[in-house]
Amino acid sequence: MGGAILSGLLNPEVEVTGGIRVTNRTVEKAEALAADGVTSLATSANPDANRVAVTGARIVLIGVKPGMVPDLLREVADSLEPDAIVVSVAAGVTIATMEALVPGAVLRSMPNTPSVVGLGVTGLAAGTRSTADDLAIVKELFETVGDVLVIPESQINALSTISGSGPAYVYFLIEQLTRTAEGLGFTPEQARTMVDGTFIGATQLLAASGSTPTELRIQVTSPKGTTERAVAELEAADLSAVFDRATAAALARAEELAAGN
Ligand SMILES: NC(=O)c1ccc[n+]([C@@H]2O[C@H](COP(=O)([O-])OP(=O)(O)OC[C@H]3O[C@@H](n4cnc5c(N)ncnc54)[C@H](OP(=O)(O)O)[C@@H]3O)[C@@H](O)[C@H]2O)c1
Repeated sequence: MGGAILSGLLNPEVEVTGGIRVTNRTVEKAEALAADGVTSLATSANPDANRVAVTGARIVLIGVKPGMVPDLLREVADSLEPDAIVVSVAAGVTIATMEALVPGAVLRSMPNTPSVVGLGVTGLAAGTRSTADDLAIVKELFETVGDVLVIPESQINALSTISGSGPAYVYFLIEQLTRTAEGLGFTPEQARTMVDGTFIGATQLLAASGSTPTELRIQVTSPKGTTERAVAELEAADLSAVFDRATAAALARAEELAAGN
């Protein structure tokens, strides 16, 4: 996820002042991320890499696994600048947990994987010590890789069940429809062309047309036609209840993670 945001910052249209420093544990990963304007450090080669990276930084983006966030914040806390804004992308790690470990401003975010291609959706929540300016700067950072919704922290887990996990739901639907296409006798390659192409085409049409999904669905669904029959089967399967249960399960897991389980 950190790499996705880095790719957004490296877009030539994005103006970055003061350079970018990134860290990993392994030298291989660090080497792969080194680029013009990017100093890439590995903690295995330089145990001070994280402290060096945050020194002089206005924005400090924390992209490690949730369980590692507290130790990492303890490690860098004394090296943070007084005006540093600490932003975490970690699921389940609360602003209160982070504010207890660092002295300054903290924000919490929940991006998603399409950020890699600049089409991400990020939920962003302000902390109790962050200013309107801090929020605006970090919003701009995530806007380099897609859309940003500023929400209260109490809604971050709910957003995560929709846009954070959402790409997995979409891929799962694609997998299921591909299986059906193969069952109808198409080769895997043909099925992939049909199904991937349909998802990509339909969503690009949604983005380009300005119409709602309901309007576009109705356009495809002629009265008494074939699509109408298929959609009636989907309605009978009560997909909306399935999504309610899926997101409730994701929310319960986010709450377990926040409780340290
Ligand atoms: N994947 C998603 O869709 C998604 C969405 C929203 C939020 N998130 C959040 O993003 C975070 C990272 O997830 P991910 O999927 O990007 O994991 P990941 O691919 O494992 O990335 C974690 C990175 O942190 C580096 N790292 C680990 N410990 C470090 C340390 N002490 N100092 C410096 N670098 C260190 C790792 O480097 P090495 O590999 O060299 O050890 C690795 O590059 C998680 O907290 C997750 O909740 C993920």
